[in-house]
Amino acid sequence: MCAQRILSPTADHLQRAAQALRAGDLVAFPTETVFGLGADARNPQAVARIFAAKGRPADHPLIVHLHEGAALNDWAIDVPVTARLLAGRFWPGPLTLILKRASSVPDAVTGGQDTVGLRCPAHPVAQALLGLFGGGIAAPSANRYGRISPTRALHVAQEIAPQDLAIILDGPVPEVGIESTIIDLSGEQPRILRPGGVSARDLAAVLECAPEDLLLATDKAQPRVSGSLLAHYAPVTPMRLLASDQLAFELDAARQSGRRVGLLAFDVLPGAAMALPMPANATAYAQTLYDSLRQLDSAGLDEILVEAPPKTPEWLAVYDRLNRACYGSGA
Ligand code: TXA
Ligand code: MG
Repeated sequence: MCAQRILSPTADHLQRAAQALRAGDLVAFPTETVFGLGADARNPQAVARIFAAKGRPADHPLIVHLHEGAALNDWAIDVPVTARLLAGRFWPGPLTLILKRASSVPDAVTGGQDTVGLRCPAHPVAQALLGLFGGGIAAPSANRYGRISPTRALHVAQEIAPQDLAIILDGPVPEVGIESTIIDLSGEQPRILRPGGVSARDLAAVLECAPEDLLLATDKAQPRVSGSLLAHYAPVTPMRLLASDQLAFELDAARQSGRRVGLLAFDVLPGAAMALPMPANATAYAQTLYDSLRQLDSAGLDEILVEAPPKTPEWLAVYDRLNRACYGSGA
């Protein structure tokens, strides 16, 4: 499995990776959320390679990753005070700000929209790479379009072909495990476009508003967010989200019909061909979610059954990913 392109983040390898970015090549790198598939954000040809490698439609915008202390004004115009407040509180960290783009940002990055997504990641390898490279790195999650985001270097190697990606930097496991929260600050009202590593409650506390105000359904005039497509972050194996009290019945039905089912649940129940117990804490659950889904997806199962988490605010981002992973799976 092409392990030779997975490089430990030594000073030499980081230099090689920064050099590859300067040469217009792609580099995958860990962040505290998921691995990114990066290119020089100022080089449209390099950015185009990301779309080809992922199989992603060209009008889906990318997030530009910035080094700590990078100037927002290099990438955005009319930067509102809310952006400075949120960046001050949550950067480096799992928060992406959507701002009005500066005209110097290539169309290839923004999908031709008048806004740009900016994020300063907290992961030490991401920061080291950004520091050496010295510019912005445009990077989506390093998975094939619509599939489960990678939280291990090996996952990236499984997703992106060697001819498209020469260097995969390894590093400490992402602590958040699901993608960043995206908040749109380009309109009248701040709006969360994708729940993630920073909660609506924490954002609302800084913005001095109610969390619900940030979570109003996005209208059609909002920019496109590929992560907001219903079928996303999805395993190949059909997947169903079930209430706790339905699990035993469904496992029994599967056994009787000879189906091999996988189980992602808070407590392991008998009857599953493969069962992965999940933490009862939302933060810990998010950290292991994609890895667990990948394990189940590669086990040759007929179906994956997932025990629904509680419907409380701290589970919002996990719920969002589970719902999308199930969408299109039938029942
Ligand atoms: O945690 C993350 O955000 C990871 C790591 C690598 O930073 N990145 C990530 O990128 O999840 P991606 O491309 O897989 O998802 C980013 C989402 C996409 O759904 C994209 O449409 C949206 O951000 N996005 C980027 N720029 C945008 C913009 N200007 N307006 C609206 N949505 C935008
Ligand atoms: Mg993605």
